This record gives sequence, C-alpha cells and structure tokens, in this order.
Amino acid sequence: MESRVGIESVSLTNKKIILGVTGGIAAYKAAELCRLLVKAGADVQVAMTMAAQQFVTPLTFQALSGKPVLTSMRDAASGDGMAHIHLSRDADLLLVAPASADFMARLAQGRADDLLTTLCLARTCRLAIAPAMNREMWAATATQRNLTQLHADGLSVLGPAAGEQACGEVGLGRMLEPADILNALPGMLGLGALAGKRVLITAGSTFEAIDPVRGLTNLSSGKMGYAVAQAAAEAGAEVCLVSGPTCLPTPVGVRRIDVMGATDMQKAVMAELPADVFISVAAVADYRVASRAKQKIKKSTDSLTLQLVANPDILAEVAALPDPPFCVGFAAETERLAEYAEAKRTRKKLPLLAGNLAQDTLGQDTAELVLFDDRGQHPLPRANKLTQARHLIRHLATLLN
Ligand code: C5P
Repeated sequence: MESRVGIESVSLTNKKIILGVTGGIAAYKAAELCRLLVKAGADVQVAMTMAAQQFVTPLTFQALSGKPVLTSMRDAASGDGMAHIHLSRDADLLLVAPASADFMARLAQGRADDLLTTLCLARTCRLAIAPAMNREMWAATATQRNLTQLHADGLSVLGPAAGEQACGEVGLGRMLEPADILNALPGMLGLGALAGKRVLITAGSTFEAIDPVRGLTNLSSGKMGYAVAQAAAEAGAEVCLVSGPTCLPTPVGVRRIDVMGATDMQKAVMAELPADVFISVAAVADYRVASRAKQKIKKSTDSLTLQLVANPDILAEVAALPDPPFCVGFAAETERLAEYAEAKRTRKKLPLLAGNLAQDTLGQDTAELVLFDDRGQHPLPRANKLTQARHLIRHLATLLN
C-alpha cells in the first residue's frame, strides 16, 4: 500500500522565499500559507504593502516567519541600504499571495512605487502571483489585459479559483487555497520528482461526429486526466494535455491542446512526441462513423444504419514506437478488473496501468484506482481524484527513475 501524498510531503528545505502580501481580504489566508511554507522548511521573508497591513498586522507574519516583516522602503534602508536590490536577488522565489487587482496593474506597468513592486522589478528569481479579487474585477478588461502582459513577462499565475467570495458573490476570483499554492511550488522550483521531464497526457472523451450537430461519445468528465496533468505539473514536469471536449479549467502551468475526434487526438499526440512519459487517460471512442454527413441528417425513416470503422489505438501505437516514452494506460472496467486490466497492460506493452471499476468512478470526484506494473498490483485507498493522481505520479516517478 502506498503512503498518503499530501501537503505534509512537500519539502522546500533551504529554499529562500519572499512572500509578498497585498491588500485584500485573502491576506488572512496568506498567514496560513506563511505557516505552511515555514513548515515545509522554507526560509520565508514576508513583505507587505500598506494596504495589506489594513487587513492583517505585520506582527502576525513576524510570529509565523520568525523574522521582522518588511513594509516600506525604509526597512530596506538598513545595512548597506540596498536590501531592495539584493533581497530578491538572493531568493529562489518571490511569491505574491494574495495579488490584488491594483498590484497586478502596477506590476504590469513595471512600477516601483513601494517596496514590494521594487523587489519584483529588481529580482532575478522567479515571480509567482496568486490573484484574489471580486469576480467582476477579475473579469474586467483592464485586469485581463494586465494578466496577458504578466503572462508575456514570464510570471507564473496561480489561480484564481471559482467559488463563494468574501463580498457574497460567487465566481472566479478567490485566491487558491494555501495548500494548493504550496503544492505548486516544488515543481516551480525544480524540486519535483518529474523535474525536467516532458509529460504528454490525454484526457476526457473523444467526440465522433455523425453530422454537423450529432456525434458518438463516451461518458468521461475528464476530471481524472486533468488531475493527472495537475499532479505531473506539481511534480515539475513540462506538461502537454491533449483534451477532448470538457468544461474543466486548464491546470496551472499546463499547456492544453483541444481536440474532438480520436483521429484529431492521434494527430495531436504524434505531433507532441517525443516525450519522456505518455499517460493516456482519455476515454477514446473505439469506433467512428465511416463517412460523416455534411448536412444534418433528416428524420425520414424508422431506422437509421450508421457504418462504423475502428479508431486507431493511440496508446498501443505510441507504446509500439521504436523508442517509446514511458507509457501509462488507464482501464475502466465494469467487472473482473484485475484480469482485464492486466490483460490490457500486456497486450498494449505498458510498464504501468491504472485500473478502476467504471461504476465506482465515472463523473465522480473520488476514485479507487489499482496500479498494475511488473511487480504486481498496488491498490490505492479511495480518495479525491487529485490525491489519486499524485499517488500515480509518485509511483511512476519511482519506476521511471
Ligand atoms: O479502451 P481501452 O480500455 O482499451 O483503453 C485502455 C487504454 O488505452 C486507455 O489508457 C486509453 O486512453 C487508451 N486508448 C487509446 N486509444 C484508443 C482506445 C484506448 O489510446 N482507441
């Protein structure tokens, strides 16, 4: 049985992190984030804007980080008076959480009108922000314009999440939970088990068009594949996610390619190779309609016969390449899981396959996976799909390394 994967396994030992806190109600969550960073072994220096101090006192962060908090350019004037330059030069990461709409605007303009913006401008380390604001402020054209600029400037943007907001409204704009921010950091700092690896993942179902408005598909929410993509990114991999139609948001740091049919998925996957790892989570339709009607088929007869042709088996094709990536398959069965999953693993020549009973998992937020490899079966305890995905990634990293 595997051990639990969670925030308690995140190690940031000897990493110097500047935690910037800006003015928003989510500043109270930054206190918990500070505690988690310190617990993970990071050396944390907190810098707060004036507005942040209206929400939480510097004393709170001083107690949690064990260091006086920097609040103004005057704080940086001690010693050689150049702390605003070398503080963020010595750091491994400058993390601003929460990042308010105003802070994002100032950052996008390259302003240096307080200590935190100055630290951002003078830094040579990586900069990550976790935005938090009212949903209308997040959706505002100006904020989205600033976000585009910040992406172009090479920043990592963590979140925001959707949900209930402090103002009572519901929507996109909540700061990611501190544990989710913490989980994203090892990968960002090159510490993850898959650091430097290229991981290609398929997710969701495929949609095989019958005519312009109808199609054949499989029941798959895409939740497991997206969780695997997030877990691989957290482990430091460069992740490309080839996704069938879903309504899910793209996980942080993941590059996503949208496809419809199995042949589109096959083309996208082949174009993204070579990769170190290929994880095929998608529920690929086994058949497609032999010839798709150009116009909507009219209901003129009592029965309709569609001729179907077999789709390519993308995973088997990738696994059969002369120098294949480390291939991981998924198998959703409705009975005799171990027997069918192991047979599939052997037939497709896979070092690792994750199996589950379809009726236990489909569309749900939790799953109960069993991992099959050359050493046998490894059942994972039922847990949410992200936790299961993190187990899977840890297991595959062990086999890979
Ligand atoms: O559908 P099946 O049970 O054979 O799926 C097993 C594995 O093969 C899954 O990982 C799935 O993503 C992959 N597969 C594929 N192309 C297909 C069918 C399945 O890549 N046409």
